[in-house]
Amino acid sequence: MRIASLVIALLLIASPLAAQTQSYDKKKAQRTLKQSKCFNCHSVTREKDGPSFQSVSEKYKDHPDARHVLFDHLTKSPTITVKGKEEAHTSFKTSDTAEINNVVEWILSN
Ligand code: HEC
Repeated sequence: MRIASLVIALLLIASPLAAQTQSYDKKKAQRTLKQSKCFNCHSVTREKDGPSFQSVSEKYKDHPDARHVLFDHLTKSPTITVKGKEEAHTSFKTSDTAEINNVVEWILSN
């Protein structure tokens, strides 16, 4: 009986922790980024025409509303400057909110 309650207590403690570390699917995020050709201008570690995802993650590290700001940036095609020319930022080819949120979580994890 005592062991049973101990097991239940451990499960209750462990499950939210497990959920937290599973907040994104890296493979799926990279597939979404490839499909939308994001890697033409971005890399994880290197500055290309766009900032590296590591520097984006660093920039938003202490931002309380990072997820909303990035979601908007990636779905509303804001005007940006690429090679000195103004153009609309490339949005995702998908409009699947869960898929986009997965990418946002992964970008912030870098
Ligand atoms: C034609 C080049 C180009 C493509 C394609 C592109 N980006 Fe960007 N991206 C940029 C540039 C340039 C910036 C910097 C904009 C600025 O800070 O004004 C940027 C900024 C960003 C940022 C940071 C926004 C911020 O608030 O700091 C993220 C995240 C991002 N891009 C993700 C993506 C994703 C995801 C895709 C694919 C759907 C994508 N980009 C496709 C050029 C591109």
